[in-house]
Amino acid sequence: MTTRHTVEMGGQTISWLQSGRGRTLILLHGFPLHAAMWEALHATTPHGWTLITPDLRNFGESRGTPALSVDDHAADVLSLLRHLGCEDAAIGGLSMGGYVALAVHRVAPQRCRALVLADTRAEPDADEAKANRVRLQATARERGPDAVLEAMLPKLVGPAAQASGSVAEQLKAIASANRAEGVIDGLEALKTRPDARPGLAAITCPTLVMVGADDALTPPSAAETLRDGIAGAQLVVIPDAGHMSNL
Ligand code: MLT
Repeated sequence: MTTRHTVEMGGQTISWLQSGRGRTLILLHGFPLHAAMWEALHATTPHGWTLITPDLRNFGESRGTPALSVDDHAADVLSLLRHLGCEDAAIGGLSMGGYVALAVHRVAPQRCRALVLADTRAEPDADEAKANRVRLQATARERGPDAVLEAMLPKLVGPAAQASGSVAEQLKAIASANRAEGVIDGLEALKTRPDARPGLAAITCPTLVMVGADDALTPPSAAETLRDGIAGAQLVVIPDAGHMSNL
């Protein structure tokens, strides 16, 4: 059974979906989405595990002061671990969620029992990508969060899923629950995230890197950089999947 929990911690109101009972796996969502992107996964949480999927601050049902950096979101994940009474957890994320998982490891490596880095990258935004974030912030301000999702869709959905249209419909439904402020701040956090490559050699916990073979946003070459930089990391390439590989 999947349950929703909402708690105030560290001055922020953080909400999450939870299923199962046992060792903790926290999975962090991509942009511009929220925890509902993991809903189907909650139905298959294996015996012996608790799956926790938070809404990052000012996405979904989480609320708080503006979160303008991946470190702000990492601080919330660490508050959540403290709230749950967990010394450590397997921490993973897809895309933006992966950037935040890498930030959690950078600030508190002892809290990471294992990492799952899905459809994400260690490199920071290049200048062109930063300029695109600024354009998308203007889109969010002028036309709302749905228009941001619409602009990103061609890169979020791979060719196999484009044919059916169902992944795009799911993404639209999830993204439409977000508010413009959260999306604008989220773009700021994406734009200003640091280069995670120098920290890869410090990752010693078991790490699974995953990527959709047809991911156009964080392609398999970015996953190879993660695999090559993290000693012992495993890379799994998912055939016929695009950027939102879990969907
Ligand atoms: C995401 O899926 O979280 C974003 O597309 C990541 C990004 O744009 O860098």
